[in-house]
Amino acid sequence: MSFQTWTKRIFQQIKGDNPFDGDCLPSRVPLFALGRPTSPIPLPWNYKEPIKIFEAFYSGTKNETGWGKHNRYLYAGGIPPVLVTRDPGIIKAIQADTGDKPGQFDRDTSPTAGIARATGEDSLLYANGSIWRRQKSLVAKPFSRSNLFQPQKFHGFEQTFRKTVKERLDVMRSLQVSTGEGKTRVALDSEIKVVMLEMLVNNFFGASVSYEELRDRYVPALVYMIDHMVRDTVAPRAQALARKFSGSEKTLQNHQVAFEDLTNIALAGRAQELGLWKEFKSDASDDALRSNIRVFLAGAMEATTSFATWAISHLSRNPEWQEKVYEEVKEMDIYDPDDFTGAPNLNQVLEETLRLTPALCFFPRRATVDTWVETSDHRRMMIPKDTHIRLDVWHSNRCEEFWGEDVTGYRADVFAPERWDVMKEKGLNAKEMLHFGFGHGPRFCPGRSLGLLEVGLVVGAIVKLFKFEAVHDHTGPSAGVSTKPADGVLVDLELRTDKN
Ligand code: HEM
Repeated sequence: MSFQTWTKRIFQQIKGDNPFDGDCLPSRVPLFALGRPTSPIPLPWNYKEPIKIFEAFYSGTKNETGWGKHNRYLYAGGIPPVLVTRDPGIIKAIQADTGDKPGQFDRDTSPTAGIARATGEDSLLYANGSIWRRQKSLVAKPFSRSNLFQPQKFHGFEQTFRKTVKERLDVMRSLQVSTGEGKTRVALDSEIKVVMLEMLVNNFFGASVSYEELRDRYVPALVYMIDHMVRDTVAPRAQALARKFSGSEKTLQNHQVAFEDLTNIALAGRAQELGLWKEFKSDASDDALRSNIRVFLAGAMEATTSFATWAISHLSRNPEWQEKVYEEVKEMDIYDPDDFTGAPNLNQVLEETLRLTPALCFFPRRATVDTWVETSDHRRMMIPKDTHIRLDVWHSNRCEEFWGEDVTGYRADVFAPERWDVMKEKGLNAKEMLHFGFGHGPRFCPGRSLGLLEVGLVVGAIVKLFKFEAVHDHTGPSAGVSTKPADGVLVDLELRTDKN
C-alpha cells in the first residue's frame, strides 16, 4: 500500500466519509461499542466464533433504514474497508462477478492463509487468476454429475457404504446387548467423519485403506490439521511459540506425516486408473496435483461431515420429519441414484439444512479495482479497490426479511422443510431464492454432485436403520473451516430393524 493511499484512507476515516458509492450504501460499524456479542475484529479470544464476529457487525442497526442495516463496513487504521453483507442481492452479484477476468473480484486469501500453508498455494480453493482457471478445468470431468451418477460408479459407493454401516451397526448391537439397554447414547459426528473419509479415499480415489486405519490415524490427523490451519491463520507466530513451549511440535509433525501419507495413497491410484482417476486426463505431474488432493481430502471430509451432521441434528429434534423421511426410504433401495433423486422429503430436508445451517458460513472476496455491482432488482453499489468482502450467507439465510413468514410461510430462523412447498406454491423461482449452500457463479463448488450423493446416502441410511432423538433441546454452531452442531450430534439411538 502506498503512503498516498494510506493517507487518503486515514483522512476519509477521520472525516467519516463513506468510501462506497451507489443507492444501497453500506453503513459504518464503530470500532468500539458497548453491548455487542464480541468485537467485529478477529482476535485470539474470538477467532473461533466467526458467526458471532459477523453478528457484531449488525449490532446497533435497529435504527438504520434501508440497505445500511444489511450492508455494513468497518474502516480504520488506514487499512482498506471490510464489507460484511447479508444482502442476498449483493451476495449474488459479487459471487457472479468473481473470477479471472480483468476487474472481477478475487477470492480473498487472508482468512485462509493457514490453509494455503498446509495444503499449497496453487490449489483450486486458494488460487486466483489463471492458476485457478487451470485447476478448475482439470477437475471438471471427474466431478461432473453425469459422470458420478453412472450406475456402475454409484455401485462402488454403495459397496463401501453398506460395509461401513454394517460394521457400525454391529458395534451398536454389541453395545446394546452388553448394556441391556434398548437405546445407545452416541455422538454421531465422529462416526460420520470416518464414513465420509472412507467414501472419498476408497471410492473416489480408488484406494483400499482399512476402516480402522482411517478412524485411528487419518481422521485424527485431518481433524488436527484443520484446527491447526485455523489457528495458523489467525496467530501464526503465537501458535508456533505455544507449540515450542508446550512441546507439541512433535504432535504436529506426526499429523503432517499422516496427512502426506494419505495424499500419497490418494495419488497412487492415478497410475493404475483406480476409482475416478480413470476420468482424469491431464499431463500435469503428480506433484502439480498435490495441493488439490490435500484440499479435497481435508475440505471434502469437513464439508460433507458438516452437511450430514446438521441434517441428522435437525432430524433428531424433528420426529415428524424423521418419520416422513423414514416412510419414504424404508422400502426403497436408497442406494439407487434414481430412487435417491426421487426422494422429495429427503431432498427437502437437505435443502432446508443447507439454508439454515450452511457448511460454509461466509465466502471471502476482495475487490481488485473500484468495482460497480448491480443486483437483479437494479440496485447499484461501488466497492472500492482492495476492500475485504465477507459474504455472510449464515445471517442472510436467517434474515426474516428475506426468508421469513411473509415470504416462505415460516420463520427464517427455524428448521421448516415445509417452506419449500409454500415457496413452490407461490411460484418463487429457485434462481432468485438462493441459499448459496454450494456457492454461486464461477467459484461454485465442483464437489456438489459428489457431496450430495454422499450426504444423501449417509442421512438416508441412518434414518432407515435407526430412530434417533437429540439429548439436548438445542445446539448452537461451532465454526472452524466449516460449521457443525456444537453438541457433536449427541443422540439416543434405537435400532429400527436388525435385518440389514
Ligand atoms: C456436500 C458438501 C459440500 C458443501 C456444502 C460445499 C460447499 C462449498 C461452497 C459453498 C463453495 C464455494 C466457496 C466460495 O464461493 O468461496 C465450495 C467450493 C469448493 N468446494 Fe465444496 N462443498 C461440499 C463438498 C465438496 C467436495 C466433496 C469437494 C471435493 C471433493 C469440494 C471441493 C470444493 C472446492 C475445491 C471448492 C473451491 C472451488 C473454486 O474456488 O473454484 N466440495 N464448496
